[in-house]
Amino acid sequence: DLAQDLAGRHVVVSAGGTREPLDPVRFLGNRSSGKQGYALAATAAARGARVTLLSANAELPDPAGVEVVRVSTALQLRDAALKAVVDADVVVMAAAVADFRPAEYVTGKIKKVDGVDPAPVALVRNPDILAEISAHRARPGQLVVGFAAETDDVLANGRAKLARKGCDLLVVNEVGDSKAFGLDTNAAVVLAADGAEVHIPDGPKENLADAVWDQVAARLR
Ligand code: C5P
Repeated sequence: DLAQDLAGRHVVVSAGGTREPLDPVRFLGNRSSGKQGYALAATAAARGARVTLLSANAELPDPAGVEVVRVSTALQLRDAALKAVVDADVVVMAAAVADFRPAEYVTGKIKKVDGVDPAPVALVRNPDILAEISAHRARPGQLVVGFAAETDDVLANGRAKLARKGCDLLVVNEVGDSKAFGLDTNAAVVLAADGAEVHIPDGPKENLADAVWDQVAARLR
């Protein structure tokens, strides 16, 4: 029997990785598969939540009973997120969002010219969606959860990022070499603004998802 401890709650989860178009055939992207975010959406639905999944370029089947909103760029994810969080009890930003996007979109395919080096691609900063949602809670008591991939000083960097983003929980993955991206397993530390630190051993992404919902459910009022 699964505890229905998220029954009556609306949770918003972002998943996948944004793509920032450069021209009609090219984009700046990342290696996020979306598996962790989809596992979060599926497990939240199994625990009774109404789930809105903001899916950025993930090639995965829709989880049962979940409303899926498809987006591609960071700006589209921001628009969809700001709409979805209005009545959300919990927001989990598991998507890998591009920090920068090309300053301009070139409408025709960029061509190479013999003997001419390309001009550098100018980039501009994308808004930090997690920080924005954390700073302007759409309803009192709304819980905001971020994800972070760190290669070194995982705990210290995680604590600093938790404070910087202003969220309630930060799920920190150690990445590098072959860890986490595209795999079916994940190990992580959940850092809480209330000081808690919960270590989740390497295991299926569904296990990490359930451990995150345990931490969320304990803090919902
Ligand atoms: O700063 P960093 O990219 O490491 O933070 C990761 C967390 O912040 C993730 O939860 C990600 O979804 C979120 N993020 C965001 N908007 C950005 C960059 C990251 O919401 N522009």
